[in-house]
Amino acid sequence: MSNILSLAKSYEKFFKIGAAVACKNIDSYTDILREHFNSVTPENEMKYISTEPEEGKFTFGDTDKIFDTARALGIKVRAHAPVWHNQTGGWMYKDGDKPASPELIYQRIDAHSKALCERYNNDVYAWDVVNEAVIDEVPEGASGDAAIYRDSEYFKLCGADFIAAAFRSMDKYSPNAQLFYNDYNECDPQKRGRIVSLIKRLKEQGCRVDGFGMQQHYFGTPDYDELKRSIEIYAGLGLRLHITELDVSIMATFGHNVFPPSAEDIERLKASRPEDIAAIEDIYLKLFEIYRSYSDVIDCVTTWGVADDYTWMDGFVPHDNAPAVKQYPLLFDIHHAPKACISKLIAAAK
Ligand code: GLA
Repeated sequence: MSNILSLAKSYEKFFKIGAAVACKNIDSYTDILREHFNSVTPENEMKYISTEPEEGKFTFGDTDKIFDTARALGIKVRAHAPVWHNQTGGWMYKDGDKPASPELIYQRIDAHSKALCERYNNDVYAWDVVNEAVIDEVPEGASGDAAIYRDSEYFKLCGADFIAAAFRSMDKYSPNAQLFYNDYNECDPQKRGRIVSLIKRLKEQGCRVDGFGMQQHYFGTPDYDELKRSIEIYAGLGLRLHITELDVSIMATFGHNVFPPSAEDIERLKASRPEDIAAIEDIYLKLFEIYRSYSDVIDCVTTWGVADDYTWMDGFVPHDNAPAVKQYPLLFDIHHAPKACISKLIAAAK
């Protein structure tokens, strides 16, 4: 127990404070979760690869462990990312030796949604129903849907309609949870336009879409004006907003566009200078100031992990010529102590 006030309690009047958690080490974080968080997201344990590695063979052991812990802590769960182009078994896209038909894929999504909702509905308050279905760079000459949607197996086999199918199934089996579309680089104006098209189309198709999940992974310096504009644009679609995967790389502190990183940027990244690591906390303060100012539309801010001892960013190569290095992207340090910025975030919430 630390002697600072609770982050989650201090932010009750603004939004929930969430963290992504993993089955393998959630026990080491229960004290921090109890004290500072009031939402959790299973990092990988609700994806197809974890819950249905083979068609019809459900494996819920790791997921159950997270839900048991959340229940014991009195915390509800943001369920994350079943329909996604990653971490899904190849069986989804095949029918024997042939490619699966859209109808077969929709039946599979429906059966999966039913199984997960029957098991976890009581403890889930929101779902990321579909994750990252929008394309990052539009290929030259592409037009129509090919200029909006990621060229995933789902898209190749079904066109964009798999997204509506996933929302319809989740609505049927989880009528009381909020349904979200979730994506990254969501403040990039071009990609934002494509995300807006996706959401408008879903609504035109009569799907219930309650919210948009802004991932907010920062490898580069945040553009705070573009963040505000994005919040306004997404909220303008009548959506609730969750910040779903917030974390801040050392590279985000360099103060200039690091893509592609220069040789100097890479040396600075490798050096992990204490002043750069400390500057991550300033970015958190600025981001939270903006999130607070939009608390009429933002209901939850989740960091992608709890403390710096375990973060996906450590293993991630952000660019071909940038190495993976130890990162310090979260609000608690490698020893699970709250960083100095937490007291400042709490003071700012008064
Ligand atoms: C994406 C996904 C998350 C997670 C992160 C990196 O943002 O939405 O589930 O896999 O990548 O770990």
